[in-house]
Amino acid sequence: MDSLTSTANAKKTDGTPLSRETLTITDNRTGKSYEVPITHGTIRAMDLRQIKTDPSDFGMMSYDPAFNNTAACISRITYIDGDKGILRYRGYPIEELAEKSTYLETAFLLLHGELPNEKQLKDWAWHIGHHTFIHESIKKFLDGFHYDAHPMGMMISTIAALSTFYHDAKDILSEESRQKQTYRLIGKMPTIAAFAYRHTLGMPFVYPDNELSYPGNLLNMLFRTTETRYRPNPTLERALDILFILHADHEQNCSTNVIRGVGSSHVDPYSATAAAIAALYGPLHGGANEEVLRMLLEIGSVQKVPDFIKRVKAGETKLMGFGHRVYKNYDPRARIIKRVAYEVFELMGKNPLLEIALECERIALEDEYFVKRKLYPNVDFYTGLIYQSMGFPMTMFPVLFAIPRTSGWIAQWQEMLLDPEQKIARPRQIYLGSGARDYVPIEKRS
Ligand code: CMC
Repeated sequence: MDSLTSTANAKKTDGTPLSRETLTITDNRTGKSYEVPITHGTIRAMDLRQIKTDPSDFGMMSYDPAFNNTAACISRITYIDGDKGILRYRGYPIEELAEKSTYLETAFLLLHGELPNEKQLKDWAWHIGHHTFIHESIKKFLDGFHYDAHPMGMMISTIAALSTFYHDAKDILSEESRQKQTYRLIGKMPTIAAFAYRHTLGMPFVYPDNELSYPGNLLNMLFRTTETRYRPNPTLERALDILFILHADHEQNCSTNVIRGVGSSHVDPYSATAAAIAALYGPLHGGANEEVLRMLLEIGSVQKVPDFIKRVKAGETKLMGFGHRVYKNYDPRARIIKRVAYEVFELMGKNPLLEIALECERIALEDEYFVKRKLYPNVDFYTGLIYQSMGFPMTMFPVLFAIPRTSGWIAQWQEMLLDPEQKIARPRQIYLGSGARDYVPIEKRS
């Protein structure tokens, strides 16, 4: 045995072997055995490197496209048990936070690890509120977009452009600078989102109102018209706040992996966040809420659901808003969202697409295809219906995901920066391309 042989034969005083937190690997190419430590149910991929056929061999690697079974970091922010349908931020169940907390308080929790006391919360809200304004040049920049530009495209570029305004953001190893950029990012996301929306309508921008709550101010900047003072409807304001809590973080999903990966090059947080927004935009990730609505519109009526499900099972299309890499049970966020949906419908009237969505869910939960693959509704299945009833156009749905996810992204980015084990992200590959060959002049190529 090559590693840890000293602990390999350890016994208890009564002679029974000590349970060893190790894994023994036998390489049948060489007949050699290796014992590698197991920590938190995991072996270190670098421990495989010692497994070689001869001294010139590079050593064994693990192959895991799409990170199906690879832990890329140690985190203390968000816990998910996908089989049991559990989601917790810093140990607090998502159900309790959705019922009792606010988005701003939850964002503080994600970033600082503990719930704030009264003074901390007041200071936190004050700082976020005092960073909601954007430089007037950004307005001009937004004006350059075409009237039908997708707001996610505008968000990606405008957030990236913030890095050109705040040069101190490059100082990522300064705690003070990170704190400042955190206030700016969380404060300015709603303003940029609302300005992008108003631009597509050709309506004048509405400036932030710091007397309002975080979601209340967003509604103000989006929907205010002739009122001297905008008063958000408390049911809609609270519904949006709950949706923001549910979207605040979700451990190592695609966009979080992106902010960690891009941030690992030590680029400023605006550029890294822009990359994360780009990842979120995709229809398999945060863009799914928009796609769900398009799908429900395409299905058109409850009677047409069985035909659509047949097409899904034939592999012609996907049931958007269903399935998840980690949840193999009902997404706990979807359960809360379904309840919030009914509260919004009570106020705004039932969304006519709800019946189609419920029928899709009913059939899918009973159908062998979905049951076998453990496909359940995810967070995006019902959010689109709520957003539509609240008056948002479809293209704004992923933006409403990106705004609250900013706190989670920044918490994860900061955790990555402060982790002494993390370095620039740089995966390996298995090269199966051509071997070395001589350059062929163009006239000799067939
Ligand atoms: N409709 C139909 N079949 C599906 C679906 C779906 N929505 N999702 C997965 N499957 C099938 C898939 O075809 C595969 O079948 P088979 O074993 O026969 O090849 C099996 O289920 C396993 O799927 P997978 O693609 O290996 O699963 P994954 O973990 O790679 O993908 C997913 C997860 C979320 C990308 C995928 O379920 C999906 O595309 N869902 C629709 C898009 C969606 O709703 N995305 C939002 C995710 S939650 C919000 C967020 O955090 O992003």
